[in-house]
Amino acid sequence: MKNIEVRHLSKLYKNGVTALDDISFTAGSGVFGLLGHNGAGKTTLMKALTTLLEPSAGSIRVCGFDTVKQGKEVRRRIGYLPQELAMYPSLSVFDFVNYMAELKGIHDRRAVNSVLEQVELQDYAKRKIRHLSGGMKRRVGIAQALVGDPQVLVVDEPTAGLDPEERVRFRSVLSRFARDGRTVLLSTHIVEDVHQICGELAVLRKGRLFFAGTPTALMGRVEGKVRLVPLEREEQLAGLQKQAVVLSVTYEKNGISARIMDENTLFPQFAHIPATLEDAYVYCMGGKAHA
Ligand SMILES: Nc1ncnc2c1ncn2[C@@H]1O[C@H](COP(=O)(O)OP(=O)(O)OP(=O)(O)O)[C@@H](O)[C@H]1O
Ligand SMILES: [Mg+2]
Repeated sequence: MKNIEVRHLSKLYKNGVTALDDISFTAGSGVFGLLGHNGAGKTTLMKALTTLLEPSAGSIRVCGFDTVKQGKEVRRRIGYLPQELAMYPSLSVFDFVNYMAELKGIHDRRAVNSVLEQVELQDYAKRKIRHLSGGMKRRVGIAQALVGDPQVLVVDEPTAGLDPEERVRFRSVLSRFARDGRTVLLSTHIVEDVHQICGELAVLRKGRLFFAGTPTALMGRVEGKVRLVPLEREEQLAGLQKQAVVLSVTYEKNGISARIMDENTLFPQFAHIPATLEDAYVYCMGGKAHA
């Protein structure tokens, strides 16, 4: 049994939007990345996992418990940091996390102190939420999700808008948590986050699961096929885009260079360059032009 087992999951909203379409994957211990553009279905999937939304079809098991039939058991084992967590700016860090703990039925001030330590906020327990930096607020968000020592942690775009230092700190909090058989499901737009800490990932595209596996396997889809093409004029880009998937474009003083996915070896005159996870992700998404 894996900590997260998603089987043929679909979600059709009342307005007719199919947010998830026959998604299946499993996640064991470690950090599992969920990548996808705006509207791909990441938040919908996370809400279904945390029992906030009922699937239209298919099923989800968390630690072996069905999210619809055994919601209480699931909620007991899952911590959730929503994409937009409402915080009370006038509360202190401790009081806010304690309040969230009490909502979960946990009346234990030591448990609150322990999660503040886990996210390295123990020295800020008395500081008002409104006086925290964006990165610290995000860590308060993680702290409230960690109360009750969940087996599975679901975090929705926690690193968006963080500076590099905070992102590194955040990543280390998540990967530390994900030891000892626990699972973190992390949704993000930031490929770098996934590369650094995720043993496995899934790519969602318009509600469909485009890929599930290791970062290395995803990179394998483009490895040996990425070339750097120098261009003299911007207008050449449109022509190039008709022949190959353009992964990224760099504008420099001496000209423009495009990273392309040369699947059919149309440009053997240009050298191969090592592929990155970003290349593979952009390729999955249909290239820069469609991003
Ligand atoms: N409550 C809702 N009612 C109707 N449609 C919704 C609802 N919530 C989301 N959607 C639609 O479902 C699709 C998936 O949305 P979702 O929020 O899951 O995407 P996302 O991958 O989290 O996007 P983002 O990266 O912007 O957070 C979108 O087309 C969205 O407009
Ligand atoms: Mg979202």
